[in-house]
Amino acid sequence: MTKKYNRTLVTSALPYANGPVHIGHMAGVYIPADIYTRYMRLKGEEVIHIGGSDEHGVPITIRAKKEGVTPQDIVDKYHTIIKKSFEDFGITFDIYSRTSSETHKQTASDFFLKLYNNGQFEEKTSEQYYDEEAQMFLADRYIMGECPHCGNPNAYGDQCESCGTSLSPTDLKNPRSTISGSTPVMRETKHWYLPLDKHEGWLRQWILEDHKEWKSNVYGQCKSWLEMGLQPRAVSRDLDWGVPVPLADAKGKVLYVWFDAPIGYISNTKELLPDSWEKWWKAEDTKLVHFIGKDNIVFHCIVFPAMLKAEGSFILPENVPANEFLNLEGDKISTSRNWAVWLHEYLEDFPGQQDSLRYVLTANAPETKDNDFTWKDFQARHNNELVAILGNFVNRALVLTQKYFDNKVPQYNDLTMPEDIMLADIKVISNRINKHLEVYHFRDALKAAMSLARIGNKYLADTEPWKVAKTDMKRVETILYIALQITANLGIALEPFLPFAAKKIREFLNMDNMSWNQLGSMYLLPAGHQLNASELLFAKIEDETIEKQIQKLLDTKKANEAEAEIKVAPQKENVAFDDFAKMDLRVGTVLECTKVPKADKLLQFLIDDGMGKRTIVSGIAAWYKAEELVGKQVCFIANLAPRKIKGIESQGMILSVENADGSLSLIQPSKEVNPGSQIG
Ligand code: 2FM
Ligand code: ZN
Repeated sequence: MTKKYNRTLVTSALPYANGPVHIGHMAGVYIPADIYTRYMRLKGEEVIHIGGSDEHGVPITIRAKKEGVTPQDIVDKYHTIIKKSFEDFGITFDIYSRTSSETHKQTASDFFLKLYNNGQFEEKTSEQYYDEEAQMFLADRYIMGECPHCGNPNAYGDQCESCGTSLSPTDLKNPRSTISGSTPVMRETKHWYLPLDKHEGWLRQWILEDHKEWKSNVYGQCKSWLEMGLQPRAVSRDLDWGVPVPLADAKGKVLYVWFDAPIGYISNTKELLPDSWEKWWKAEDTKLVHFIGKDNIVFHCIVFPAMLKAEGSFILPENVPANEFLNLEGDKISTSRNWAVWLHEYLEDFPGQQDSLRYVLTANAPETKDNDFTWKDFQARHNNELVAILGNFVNRALVLTQKYFDNKVPQYNDLTMPEDIMLADIKVISNRINKHLEVYHFRDALKAAMSLARIGNKYLADTEPWKVAKTDMKRVETILYIALQITANLGIALEPFLPFAAKKIREFLNMDNMSWNQLGSMYLLPAGHQLNASELLFAKIEDETIEKQIQKLLDTKKANEAEAEIKVAPQKENVAFDDFAKMDLRVGTVLECTKVPKADKLLQFLIDDGMGKRTIVSGIAAWYKAEELVGKQVCFIANLAPRKIKGIESQGMILSVENADGSLSLIQPSKEVNPGSQIG
């Protein structure tokens, strides 16, 4: 028997505030959560959508160190950017807060203490790497060393990014601290563990038996975790960024980010509803639904429920409709490699076109398997579906009404067979949208909603009111009455998916109110109802626009490849000072410079070396034009034994450096000096 719920608490994974949000986040978590929440609201259900930034954890401290700022600076910056992106894309949170808030610190701290006082933790001492110079324990990411599998000298303490193997810090050969560069030592440290092994029994029953309806990707992942057997998990870390462990003997220790982050859902609910938050988290008739990506499944289906159960007074999630991953043009989306379509950048290039992205990310959502976003597919879906089907239908219905009926809804006159069948279809479709939304099948729900526009388009194409108008205006009245009712249905049905377009449709139709329960009705707009002026809902996206986006990604790829190729040459053997002093390095002024005939790479220099003139041949023609170097100063080795190059005696060597991409750059003094001045 399905349980009766009286309110729904929707949570969306709290994104780390160490970078902006991209299309992968949107497709995986925020768009589905927003669709579901909007749907619930439209139905008149009591629902709240809780969000916020996840502002703790090691990656944030690493980013701060890299940029030479504090972790608080980092989270302040990205929290603002992320929050704005969500607002811009119409993701409707009832609250979007952050885990650095006071309410959260207090809530997480109290939660820990309650478990601690109830004897729900195990205390364990273990040995971990410690940096004696920086005087701190090292999180796995702060340790680098040689990968035992592939020999990569720069593997991290948790993973080798070269061969992809998961590691623990003790696997690394020659470990080094990324903080000070020193070799870390092992030191004992105490932490608190949540004994997941003790929770395994009820978790098995609750997930494997009582929640067989969960999405197969979620259920399957839980099953395999449970089959491997659960282990105790540390809920604290030695770190100076996070919620301090609220115990006397816990100096320098904070709650592990994955312990505090999900409590953030509770803190943010408290912040939103200080007086009534408890009914949202503790009443049996609340339906709790977590929207997350697949990498968060274990935390939301196993760890957080175990925490809630251990606390004792909280409800458990009713569903966790996690999505798989969205790739970009065939490659995994990656923040560090800048392989992403960032929301704020998308809006710069496609202003006002939020719904196009919302549409494509829903139609192509990675609901059951990883999917790929490509710009060509984006363009095709936008042009062939949003423009050619939805926009075209709405526009035709409105323009024809303007033309024949002075922008007023005409009268419905007769009912003939074709309409009968079509009207029944519309009822069926409306029910189908509901059914899909109830079970988190958002792709199918959107497809069903769009089929209203398909039916409308076909209806106008079949009935051809512009032709019938020559002979039978009564019939045209009926046709456009129906077309307008379908348009009004679209104004409701699309609201969860394409809120901007749906709003426009309702504005065109002068529809002040709507209710989801009216979906499927053919009486949404009464005859004689005055419509407003309209415009095209969507404009075609041209090839050049898409080419630009593809080029942007190609540039990123090139830059990444160049970076990957930067290999600093190993240092050469030491030389005695006397040996170095034997080299006569000087600055000279270029008097003449010409290309060496039949040698693409060579330039011939005539140099004023302070003592006279000398000729030097240098292989830098690919990077400098001969004429631009005349009058410039260069550095050269004066006492290199002369060599013949292409029949020209070269009396020395001009100094240059080789860049990562193989290009050469001349070394020049930063101020002009006398020709012949010695370097050293
Ligand atoms: O994977 C992530 O981006 C995490 N910051 C999600 C946290 S979800 C919740 F627990 F807050
Ligand atoms: Zn490796």
